[in-house]
Amino acid sequence: MTSVQTYRLVSIPGDGVGPEVLAAGRRVLEATGERFGFRIAWDEVLMGGVAIDAYGVAIRPEDIQVCAAADAVFLGAVGGPRWDDPNAAVRPEQGLLALRKALTLYANLRPVSVHPALVASAPLRPELLQGVDLLIVRELTGGLYFGRPSEERTTAEGRSVVDTLTYTDREIVRVVRLAFELARGRRKKLTSVDKANVLSSSRLWRKIVEELRPEYPDVEVEHRLVDSCAMSLVTKPAQFDVMVMENMFGDILSDEASVLAGSLGMLSSASIGERRTAHGLHGLYEPGHGSAPHMTGRDVANPVGTILSGAMLLRWSLGQAEAAAAVEAAVAAALDAGFRTPDLLRVTADGAAGLTPVGTMGLTDAIIERLVAV
Ligand code: IPM
Ligand code: MG
Repeated sequence: MTSVQTYRLVSIPGDGVGPEVLAAGRRVLEATGERFGFRIAWDEVLMGGVAIDAYGVAIRPEDIQVCAAADAVFLGAVGGPRWDDPNAAVRPEQGLLALRKALTLYANLRPVSVHPALVASAPLRPELLQGVDLLIVRELTGGLYFGRPSEERTTAEGRSVVDTLTYTDREIVRVVRLAFELARGRRKKLTSVDKANVLSSSRLWRKIVEELRPEYPDVEVEHRLVDSCAMSLVTKPAQFDVMVMENMFGDILSDEASVLAGSLGMLSSASIGERRTAHGLHGLYEPGHGSAPHMTGRDVANPVGTILSGAMLLRWSLGQAEAAAAVEAAVAAALDAGFRTPDLLRVTADGAAGLTPVGTMGLTDAIIERLVAV
């Protein structure tokens, strides 16, 4: 008897549209397993607002352990108006930050490309979008997000506040090295983004990029200041290949870059760490969008970001590169065939001629049909 390869994945539906898009992503992974001959054993974990309601915390330590023990984690989205008070002691985002830190997911990969069929519906002029294909590599477990102290204080002069931007040599080296490696497998161009004209942390960042550079003579390197780089991202986006930056810069520029793809709903992401499993790198995969409370339960959320995150999961954590490519091809084929969720139906000059409006489920069905048909 030959045993079928079985992977252990954790599913975290989260809040808002999270459960809907994650169900779509899971269905696609299951269909991929059928075609490529593997199985998935799922564990489910509560995180975010649902966990606050159930347990009083954004994620329980034992659930972090479940995530750590799996081959990879597949996440919908967390947060929502009911838990939105930034001054509350317990907040949905704490679950995500705790998970990133506990699993040492130091690199967040956010690819941004424009599917040719969506160029016309994107908010930027079509000619600016030709050839856009970039990858943001965001440092994810250091910088302002985790630096201590981070607190408000009462002083003799009134209130004061401190956040700390701190990085060790090693934290910068590992993410910059990964970015160099990724650039090598793409168009061999690396843009390192910093604020070296002001910040000490950026000056060390830049030094480290220069120190590693001789090891990658085939990769072209440029240093860009974050402010002017933010401008170039929307005026000349096609010039970028791999972009690497610290945590907060990456948070901001990745949302900005998402505009290029036509809809936030198209974007996928992988957060990967140092730990290797038997199949690949341990990681967390989630769409680039949030919980979109206004869309919840209406079957309108675009599942593509989650489904493409599932493709990244296959590639990075399960070593199933062929299956990943098949998912990506099926997504492209469904879009080529004209299937569109409402976010992709923005009125264009030629209207919606030839397009088929669908919901979350309809687009997922169209993708699965093309995945199994090949
Ligand atoms: C993201 C999000 C998170 C972040 C929030 C929800 C804490 O914006 O993944 O980009 O800032 O990292
Ligand atoms: Mg963000």
